[in-house]
Amino acid sequence: MTMYVPQLENEGSRYQAIAAAIERDIQVGTLKPGDRLPTHRDLADRLGVTVGTVTRGYAEAERRGLTQAVVGRGTFIRGYQREDPWPEHLAEPGMVDFTLSLPLHLPEEERFLAETLSELARDPRIGASLRYEAESASMDQKSIVSAWLQRMGLFPKPEQVLVTCGSQHSLNVVLSSLFQPGQVLVTTALTYPSLKAIAKSFGLKLRAVPMDAEGMQIEGLTKALTSEPKPHGVYLDPTLQNPTTAVMSLRRRKEIAEVVRRHDVLLVEDDVHGFLLPEPMPPISSWLPEHSVYLSSVAKCLNPGLRTGFLCAGTALIRRLLSGIHNTVWMPPPLMVELTCRWLANGVAVRLIQAKRLEIQRRQMEAARILAGHDFLAHPYGYQIWLRLPEPWSTEAFVLAGAEAGIKVIGAGAFAVNRLAIPQAIRISLGVPSWEEMRLGLLRLSALLASSPSSYF
Ligand SMILES: Cc1ncc(COP(=O)(O)O)c(C=O)c1O
Repeated sequence: MTMYVPQLENEGSRYQAIAAAIERDIQVGTLKPGDRLPTHRDLADRLGVTVGTVTRGYAEAERRGLTQAVVGRGTFIRGYQREDPWPEHLAEPGMVDFTLSLPLHLPEEERFLAETLSELARDPRIGASLRYEAESASMDQKSIVSAWLQRMGLFPKPEQVLVTCGSQHSLNVVLSSLFQPGQVLVTTALTYPSLKAIAKSFGLKLRAVPMDAEGMQIEGLTKALTSEPKPHGVYLDPTLQNPTTAVMSLRRRKEIAEVVRRHDVLLVEDDVHGFLLPEPMPPISSWLPEHSVYLSSVAKCLNPGLRTGFLCAGTALIRRLLSGIHNTVWMPPPLMVELTCRWLANGVAVRLIQAKRLEIQRRQMEAARILAGHDFLAHPYGYQIWLRLPEPWSTEAFVLAGAEAGIKVIGAGAFAVNRLAIPQAIRISLGVPSWEEMRLGLLRLSALLASSPSSYF
């Protein structure tokens, strides 16, 4: 294998240039997690600098969170925080993939789909689904959505509801329509990876707030909102937080609402998992009708393929959000909106959610049994498990070792807003296609946790 030799920029001190070159080469993919860097002496010889300069350069790279020195083995590239949060999703035979936040799929979904499609096929008004409209959802459909959201404790008027192609789309719409490039968005220190990617694509700066067992801390939020430059908004997912599964208490929700109101910023509340709780928690937006945008979706509780999500906001924001929908997709497919609304209105949605809750609970119980004794966070109705790795495992080593042992897991770096404060933890998503696959993967995981990482790092 050819030796890696960084191309140094001419500016600045040599040791800084070494660290900068390593950072650049990780970003462009020349260096990958787990790659070993040349010894200090070899690199010093190749670059024509002193060994001390290389030592300082490597120390600086480690300080930047790029590398990890392992006594007696050398210096290795750590897992880098990718712009694209998802690892390449390869369907390798025998590999159990716990990385994607897949909602559970139930066989009855297909039966309900077939029934509703044949009902739609017989409906003489179905041709209306083939036209361009200013909005794909009619007032009747918005009334259905509004009644649906009342189950969560939110009481929007139908005209305060917009239909989107899911929460991912809603986030794109909200961040592009209500924020300007360069503005600051405050979020939890660990956050939904796509939020990071979308914020970046619109030129927004994320500011991280420390977390506790309930998610965003009040003290940290106040600090973030009083620091310069003044933030424009706060993003959080207070129910079954991604990735920690935290559910915020009623009291904390009220406190967050109070701080957001006092500082006159916009709350972006992502409640994509809200419907999974049998006793839903009231959205923070319910106390902030004019200071918030509330995002809900049917992806996790009904089916992701419906690609239907809902946005609720004060009437002053609706026009701008609607422009955002026009700019992105013009309108979500009316047929899917109609199908979703039928499920919300005819009881199919409630039946599916109840069935999903039972299956999630069953999976979480089995996972808790297999992972007993390990340090993890989970919720009986959450799809995910946040597992803190035991000493001496590092996240990067565990992800690599997992791939060799037949499991794919996603490391904390994908969720961390601040690269210098990445915990040694992984997220496991239990929505894998089958119960057997889940068990097999968890057993492999548990065996790996009990083993020594020494052969990896
Ligand atoms: C916090 C959060 N928001 C949004 C989404 C995306 O939701 P949708 O499928 O409705 O686009 C996810 C999916 O995992 C999520 O975890």
